[in-house]
Amino acid sequence: MTESTSIPVVVAGSINVDLSIRVPRVPQSGETLLATSNVTRRPGGKGANQAIAASRFGAQVHFIGCVGDDQDGRHSVESLRHAGIDTTGVHTVSVPTGVAFVMVLPAGDNFIVVSPGANHSLSPELLVQSLDAYERAIVLMQGETPAESVSALASHATERPNLRVVLNLAPWRELGPKTLATCDPIIVNQVEASQMTGEAVDTVDDGVRVAKTIGQLARSCVITMGEKGACFFDGDQGGHIAAPAVGKVIDTTGAGDGFVGALAASLSRSEPLNKAVADGVVAGASAITFEGAQLPGD
Ligand code: RIB
Repeated sequence: MTESTSIPVVVAGSINVDLSIRVPRVPQSGETLLATSNVTRRPGGKGANQAIAASRFGAQVHFIGCVGDDQDGRHSVESLRHAGIDTTGVHTVSVPTGVAFVMVLPAGDNFIVVSPGANHSLSPELLVQSLDAYERAIVLMQGETPAESVSALASHATERPNLRVVLNLAPWRELGPKTLATCDPIIVNQVEASQMTGEAVDTVDDGVRVAKTIGQLARSCVITMGEKGACFFDGDQGGHIAAPAVGKVIDTTGAGDGFVGALAASLSRSEPLNKAVADGVVAGASAITFEGAQLPGD
């Protein structure tokens, strides 16, 4: 399928600055631990990371979101533009740009706490008004923006069937059945899938089973399973795609975002869900081989 038959990916999502340090282990309560690296300050945020990945995987990407009137906001928007993303839907508000505090362990796993800041200014009204510019699109959201805005997208999309809602519910939060029912797919990791269903998601068999449970509440579902790849339910059939082998794991921050962005790019070319998941798994594997959360350009 050629690029001319693709539809845009509109990311209505979060923009953060990521303050990252490497740590030897997770500190205990009351303990002061010395980091093993200096602090790095890089553009991040699940929305921005996913937008960059979708663009790197060939999609025409537009961003709707909010940043503060500060250096972090300007720098983040510039990095999106530099990746070829249309940022006319990014609004500058009087709340600071979101900040993520990221600790990376020696094996590359991460712990993240986010101060949403300006991301919480993406109100339902602002979102719906910004979406007016798009006749037909994949609209990609995450759990870092207000839940009311995710619900507003869902109601809006029921009146505009040419908008396909792809929701990465990270972090997990409770959503109503009508909102879930529009997601095609809803994408969660193992932890979020357990939070949603109360079921353990440890093995591939668990992943396939729980993807079907969640997928029946939505239109389709994908569960990312780290080094085990990803499981999915496309509304009809379930399956599993294994992850490619990776050499040294450097930093897993943003691996899920690489996955989601590549998956959205694939859907924008009308690929079926199993092919989109396969593309996502390749992007997720590549994202753990370098520092930081955003896929580098060529
Ligand atoms: O998924 C990784 C991202 O989560 C980081 O870039 C951080 O900003 C948080 O949003």
